[in-house]
Amino acid sequence: MDSTLLIGNNIQYAAQCLQDGNLIGIPTETVYGLAANALKAEAAVRIFTVKNRPTFDPLIVHIADIAQMTELATSVPQWASDLMRIFAPGPLTVLIPKKSIVPDIITSGLSRVAVRIPNHPLTLELLRTVQLPLAAPSANPFGYISPTTAQHVAEQLGEKVSYILDGGACSVGVESTIIGEESGKLVVYRLGGLPIETLQSLVGKIEIRPSTSSPAAPGMLHSHYAPRKPFYVGNISQLLLSYTKDNMPIGVLSFEKSYSSTAYNLVLSPQADISEAAQNLFAYMRQLDQSPVEAILAEWLPNEGLGAAINDRLRRAASPALHHQR
Ligand code: TXA
Ligand code: MG
Repeated sequence: MDSTLLIGNNIQYAAQCLQDGNLIGIPTETVYGLAANALKAEAAVRIFTVKNRPTFDPLIVHIADIAQMTELATSVPQWASDLMRIFAPGPLTVLIPKKSIVPDIITSGLSRVAVRIPNHPLTLELLRTVQLPLAAPSANPFGYISPTTAQHVAEQLGEKVSYILDGGACSVGVESTIIGEESGKLVVYRLGGLPIETLQSLVGKIEIRPSTSSPAAPGMLHSHYAPRKPFYVGNISQLLLSYTKDNMPIGVLSFEKSYSSTAYNLVLSPQADISEAAQNLFAYMRQLDQSPVEAILAEWLPNEGLGAAINDRLRRAASPALHHQR
């Protein structure tokens, strides 16, 4: 594959691909998306095929501005327009009642559609140019680590997309926070790039309804964001004791300090800056997964702000056998 032909910043070409019903990679502030025309069921079907994603896992629809919500929703609840007015464009996805113009495959037959305005200049320009809402899950094969650079997308989906819009490395690094309303109460279905504390400071306590085996919130499926190598989360010093005995090459993903000069140790943020850790998270997981280690050991971050979203991803990436619940 000649990746120079596939990747670039040509908005007109990207828009043309989408109008033709093709798939492209798009940058957002959270992770790269695999985008298609959200109003065309056949285009959405291609997303599921290319990602090898089960059709019970619905897609987020990306729009350019708040006014566009009314094109997709039968009504926009007050809480949703209030939160979008404050946080959009940004890493927040709202679940709102869908109009029939949104194909059922987008929402996996659910009555709500997930909508967000991504905070990335290239993608906002693309959305304004193409004048279509864009369905876009993260641009990775289902269950694997999310991409945070155009190169990550090219490595995994290169020949399956028509174009990748290169917007550099993602500035947030974890997926959007997903919020909806049930019986008059707000519920967060996925911890993400907008800290739940920030939302709670505005609207009061919000229930977090995480992991479920039902397809209602599949981003919350247990095994997700997972490297191919065995991945263990816990106390790294202790984990290292049991693994160095076996004399096998080990990868370590630590927060602020390095644990081992012999292991392949990547440090998420030497300054202990959680935002920087989030930016590096998926790229480092990927790097360790591609290095010649036989297992990867990671540690929990402080469980607040973006740290809670990072811990959620670590928990889902962890191998089931040694699943150290936090
Ligand atoms: O930051 C993000 O949200 C990224 C970028 C590309 O925008 N997108 C993303 O998409 O993370 P994806 O497909 O990897 O995760 C979308 C999550 C899924 O877990 C899905 O279940 C949930 O959003 N979701 C989408 N539509 C939904 C709906 N109608 N009801 C409930 N959950 C929904
Ligand atoms: Mg995903």
